[in-house]
Amino acid sequence: PSTGLEDRRGRALRDLRISVTDRCNFRCVYCMPKEIFGRDYQFMERSELLTFEEITKVARTALSFGVTKLRLTGGEPLLRRGIEDLIAQLAELRALDGRKPDIALTTNGSALPVKAQALKEAGLDRVTVSLDSLDDAKFQAMNDVRFPVARVLDGIAAAQDAGLGPIKINTVVKRDTVDEILPLARHFRGTGNILRFIEYMDVGASNGWVLDEVVPSAEVVDIIGREHPLRPLEPNSMGETAQRWAYEDGEGEIGVISSVTRAFCGTCTRARISAEGKLYTCLFAESGYDLRALLRDGASDEQLKDALCGVWQRRDDRYSELRSGLLDGGKPTRKHIEMSYIGG
Ligand code: GTP
Ligand code: 5AD
Ligand code: SF4
Ligand code: SF4
Repeated sequence: PSTGLEDRRGRALRDLRISVTDRCNFRCVYCMPKEIFGRDYQFMERSELLTFEEITKVARTALSFGVTKLRLTGGEPLLRRGIEDLIAQLAELRALDGRKPDIALTTNGSALPVKAQALKEAGLDRVTVSLDSLDDAKFQAMNDVRFPVARVLDGIAAAQDAGLGPIKINTVVKRDTVDEILPLARHFRGTGNILRFIEYMDVGASNGWVLDEVVPSAEVVDIIGREHPLRPLEPNSMGETAQRWAYEDGEGEIGVISSVTRAFCGTCTRARISAEGKLYTCLFAESGYDLRALLRDGASDEQLKDALCGVWQRRDDRYSELRSGLLDGGKPTRKHIEMSYIGG
């Protein structure tokens, strides 16, 4: 197998993001609004989901092409029954350099108080927790299922205790949530965890995104920097999504993910698979390649490799770089896959 796999823009394949379910116990208003993801919404059937064996097979193939990072996402990945068993299987795999792949998980944190220890024991390396407000009333209104913020904070503490830190806390910033920035920054300063602010993106078709709601990362850095001076840090690795900033007084770092104001497609090394086994080469892709059909037709390892390799070599995506030219009056002109489907 070639290690020099590159797409049409010379980008290597390094990260595989695996969605394990399209379900979530939250109904965040900008991701799974209740009006659309209500009682009648048709989620995937169990038989439609890739099995753990199928996921592991895809991951093994991806590792043979140079992938070193696996990230489990959803929906909410901790809703997938037996997720620890999947992690244990993935932890047995080896990257090309012979090392265990870095295994991370993105979660809303609600199940961490119960699951953190078992996840660590199964071989999970780290978790990223989504948290958009520390104010209980606002947080409950955001998740729209009255989930208390204290439980998420318990989850973060449980993950820390289990050795899954430093934990990244992801906060999506919208124009109407700028007031959450400072309280969050104050809370996580000096804890060893890394708070990251994400520019609100035009993913999906159900959140009614408009450009006016985006708060540029420069503004976030300015708001925090005025209270606690910041200085830029070098990236940890090529193609990192976040730009890093350190508190001048040594109380840790924050990150900003600026997919709207400062696109990072040029170094994007990520592929994604949906819970039903479609392979996507961009968060904003219009269609995916049906790996499940291939797997269930009894394809050989060689055929699976050829398919993955072919899809990556044809890849030309750079949506975030093109976005501004594709908007009409600040609104997207085409529909994208939902974040709950592809996992962010
Ligand atoms: P680490 O830095 O290794 O922890 O991973 P990461 O930053 O790639 O993963 P994470 O899931 O924490 O990503 C944070 C958020 O950044 C995602 O939820 C998305 O909102 C956004 N993001 C991640 N990857 C991409 C990408 O390829 N394109 C765009 N536009 N946004 C992305
Ligand atoms: N823009 C940016 N981030 C989003 N997320 C969900 N929807 C959006 C959006 N429109 C984030 C979640 C979580 C991650 C999986 O994606 O808050 O941190
Ligand atoms: Fe909220 Fe994440 Fe669930 Fe979407 S997947 S509804 S952002 S918790
Ligand atoms: Fe990668 Fe697509 Fe995001 Fe650009 S928009 S960084 S190509 S996933």
